[in-house]
Amino acid sequence: MSSQQWVTVLGSTGSIGTSTLDVIALHPERYSVYALTAHRSRDVLLAQCLRHRPQIAVLNSAEDGQWLRHELASAGLNTWVETGVEAHNTVASASCVDIVMAAIVGAAGLLPALAAAQSGKRVLLANKEALVMSGALFMQAVEQSGATLLPIDSEHNAMFQCLPLQHRGGLAEHGIEQLLLTASGGPFRGWGPDALANVTPAQACAHPNWSMGRKISVDSATLMNKGLELIEACWLFDATPQQICVVVHPQSVIHSMVAYHDGSVLAQLGNPDMRTPIAYGLAWPERIDAGVKPLDLFQVARLDFESPDEQHFPCLRLAREAMQAGGTAPAILNAANEVAVQAFLEEGLGFISIGDIVASVLDQATIGNVDSLETVLDADRHARQLAQQYITQRCR
Ligand SMILES: NC(=O)c1ccc[n+]([C@@H]2O[C@H](COP(=O)([O-])OP(=O)(O)OC[C@H]3O[C@@H](n4cnc5c(N)ncnc54)[C@H](OP(=O)(O)O)[C@@H]3O)[C@@H](O)[C@H]2O)c1
Repeated sequence: MSSQQWVTVLGSTGSIGTSTLDVIALHPERYSVYALTAHRSRDVLLAQCLRHRPQIAVLNSAEDGQWLRHELASAGLNTWVETGVEAHNTVASASCVDIVMAAIVGAAGLLPALAAAQSGKRVLLANKEALVMSGALFMQAVEQSGATLLPIDSEHNAMFQCLPLQHRGGLAEHGIEQLLLTASGGPFRGWGPDALANVTPAQACAHPNWSMGRKISVDSATLMNKGLELIEACWLFDATPQQICVVVHPQSVIHSMVAYHDGSVLAQLGNPDMRTPIAYGLAWPERIDAGVKPLDLFQVARLDFESPDEQHFPCLRLAREAMQAGGTAPAILNAANEVAVQAFLEEGLGFISIGDIVASVLDQATIGNVDSLETVLDADRHARQLAQQYITQRCR
């Protein structure tokens, strides 16, 4: 068994962060928590500090940091508190850290995840937006630093498990025909435009199989999540969009598959519980207990498959087209989507309009080459402004 390892959990107060701490707590002999970071959930972060006793805790605002310092001191804990956006990068790249769970949601997760990749960590990548925005730069950083990149998204984790260990250099090189990316279809699978027009944030966040944060839940409902995952898979596995087939599988028991030239199709199955890919990433190449119930195939009884409905859920097509266009197009798609989803969650935009806003921004924005991080961040900023303008126009 390997020696004790230090772990930083970026976004520890979220759905993935909490599940990561649950798995870590099952293995105190293997893992110690170095740092926990959050945006503003200070009560949750305090409770996590009391339980997991990290060396450092990070919050974004100085005021929240002051509050946390006071509460920790009162509880007799000597956890150091840092504040500000930069502090997430610092704890992701600290020299004593072995493993970084990158579980901040959205574009805010890019720089800390990149800092972990640049400093050669074992990076457990849950934040798909980092690869969507800057796939080429991110993969380059991993290669140059010798970091170990392990996908945590259940679909990519499944593919990773079904692929040969050496899979870089193009799928055909390794006898692979296609990646079969499974999708649950979300809570509105089979719904028509009239029903979709009246969808509320509460309905969109009630995923039939997975318990997730609000942003990814809405992305699952629009199928943008599958589009972001398609882009993520292209970068992780050197695939083209044409080599990835999205398969709707409503039971979410098969987490994805790899089809080989000889006709074999390898699949990874399990209960829909993120603790499985998290435990896999923490211990790879070993296997550890994740606290997950064993899969009961007799209870599952049947596995269904169908094609995605790209007519009523255009976000998947938009993402595929953005990946094909290349350059900053995926970063533009991601930024427009984040702004539109936030507006929908705040009840300032209809569900169907999320795809319309993303399409309008992609039409209007200039797509450039990704030659530096600044180009990506500029594209992100500009796309956010455009998306906000379109949303404001709609609300007039
Ligand atoms: N949930 C899943 O099952 C799942 C599956 C696959 C992939 N993922 C991916 O994993 C990532 C996290 O998803 P989630 O569902 O865990 O999200 P979540 O529940 O919304 O949690 C997000 C975390 O990020 C933190 N955060 C938000 N904005 C931040 C900012 N500006 N600066 C620093 N920290 C910030 C949040 O802190 P506060 O609590 O303080 O706001 C929270 O800790 C996403 O990229 C998602 O696509 C999730």
